[in-house]
Amino acid sequence: MKVGGQHFRTIWLRKEDQCVVQLIDQRFLPHRFVIEDVSTVEQMVTAIRDMHVRGAGLIGASAGYGMYLATIEAAAHGWFDQHLASAAAQLKATRPTAVNLSWAVERQLKNIVDGRTAEEKVALALRTARLIAQEDEEHCRMIGQHGLNLIQEIARKKAGKPVNVLTHCNAGWLAFVDYGSATAPIYAAHDSGLRVHVWVAETRPRNQGSKLTAWELGKHGVPHTVIADSAGGHLMQHGEVDLVIVGTDRTTYTGDVANKIGTYLKAVAAKDNNVPFYVALPSSSLDWNMRDGLKEIPIEERGAEEVKHADGWLEGRQVEVRITPEGSPAANYGFDVTPKRLVTGLITERGVCEANEKSIRALFPEHGP
Ligand code: MRU
Repeated sequence: MKVGGQHFRTIWLRKEDQCVVQLIDQRFLPHRFVIEDVSTVEQMVTAIRDMHVRGAGLIGASAGYGMYLATIEAAAHGWFDQHLASAAAQLKATRPTAVNLSWAVERQLKNIVDGRTAEEKVALALRTARLIAQEDEEHCRMIGQHGLNLIQEIARKKAGKPVNVLTHCNAGWLAFVDYGSATAPIYAAHDSGLRVHVWVAETRPRNQGSKLTAWELGKHGVPHTVIADSAGGHLMQHGEVDLVIVGTDRTTYTGDVANKIGTYLKAVAAKDNNVPFYVALPSSSLDWNMRDGLKEIPIEERGAEEVKHADGWLEGRQVEVRITPEGSPAANYGFDVTPKRLVTGLITERGVCEANEKSIRALFPEHGP
């Protein structure tokens, strides 16, 4: 997507030195656009864990490049297998919920093993990291095309009035390599000349909605309004939401959806108000080993400080303030699980399907009947 007229992806290799990964450090958005250089596994681990990069697809792509850096380090030290195993373990331990992370690390390990020399292993890791990123981008583009049909259908019924889409957190291009999952259909609709307006739920505690989604949509010229997280139900009751599209960090092969905390409540409100609730995801976010999302998906718990504090822009600098009474404990559950019964459909790179095992397997038959 474009920032200041220049096309950016969220992660890439430095042109003059292919041993350095560059990424947009999202901790500073929307106030400052900062590019970070990452040249060691340790730096990549920090970037994922401390959320310089975040969002399922981008976490996967970052892990892919992290493993590429691991092969460069291993080639320099000479202890290949040990170093790769340690890098893989460190990367996987950074964040538990998005399945793209372990998917990317495992894919790298499987490919790197085919290299006979250190040089071959580095080359294979680079090729795989690039492929993971390219596929992520292409899959999100395709999600946009399939989701566009849904928005067009609603637009026809609204006879020129804007289609109101509600989204939660940031499943935009910042959460992937480009396009985004939940936002891809929105960008495709906007670019095709349809009138779309987006309700952006702010997404406490880290405010990925009000900081990142609002910034992205604004840069692309998509009309949007930031709302408090709890306002979604009210808007649905008053006919102000035509459809909900959210992303996911992990969806079971049976259709249960883990996404940013607060998603489940929006799905409940959507069901109660007959508002279609769609989840957009590339297949890298499907977990083919988990059947029961509520029981099996690991839910990340982050530091209480994120709930107790908020940050913003004051007189030219980013400041953080405490917003809870001193001494009040806080808990910070990062994700929740929306059961399949509340999901109208899944928008994938291969098309739209129902959130159940039969429909998901029909789109991805290579994973068995
Ligand atoms: O904690 P984050 O910011 O990494 O959370 C991920 C998300 O942005 C959301 O849960 C998103 O809706 C799905 S990831 C594309």
